[in-house]
Amino acid sequence: MKDLPSSFNLDPSSFIPDEYDNHIQRKLSNMKGQYLDQQAYAAKLADKDEILYQVYEIKRPEIEGEILHGISIVHPGKVGDEYYMTKGHFHTVLETAEIYYTLQGKGYMVMETPEGNFAVEELRAGRVLYVPPRWAHRSVNVSEDEDLVMFFAYPGNAGHDYGTIETQGFRKLVLDRGNGPEIVDNPRWSPVES
Ligand SMILES: [Fe+2]
Repeated sequence: MKDLPSSFNLDPSSFIPDEYDNHIQRKLSNMKGQYLDQQAYAAKLADKDEILYQVYEIKRPEIEGEILHGISIVHPGKVGDEYYMTKGHFHTVLETAEIYYTLQGKGYMVMETPEGNFAVEELRAGRVLYVPPRWAHRSVNVSEDEDLVMFFAYPGNAGHDYGTIETQGFRKLVLDRGNGPEIVDNPRWSPVES
């Protein structure tokens, strides 16, 4: 890791950084219990453990004052009626925000707070999304054939809490029941007892 000002380039077609420190690949098997249609999930997994999304991270110290950043790429596809998506998370330090700049594709950011507020914002190339402190966030690719590519940046001390979402899910799902993307209530959503 350099401690001098530095730059990197994004490949103009793939958007993969020419320098990065960490490459995360999340597969279908990493999303157990997250998709509504569990039968469709099991059938798809039995066929192939596909890569659903990838993250290229530029490493910085995970401390206040630093900004962690990188590129996230969600591939197109569906499990049953539900579009490919990221696991989604709260930040461990709830009072930390995040910025997303969509470089390619179309989708939605599904968000909610521990207090029960929820929001769904459209993601498309050229659009910037601000996720305020306290809002859990999950990106969903609703394109039929194009990757959803975003640049992200968040405070170094934020941390990731995946467990809360793994347990309770998000209040809203993005499904295609034959007419394109629809935002619907998650019938399985239940708040974690505090
Ligand atoms: Fe985040």
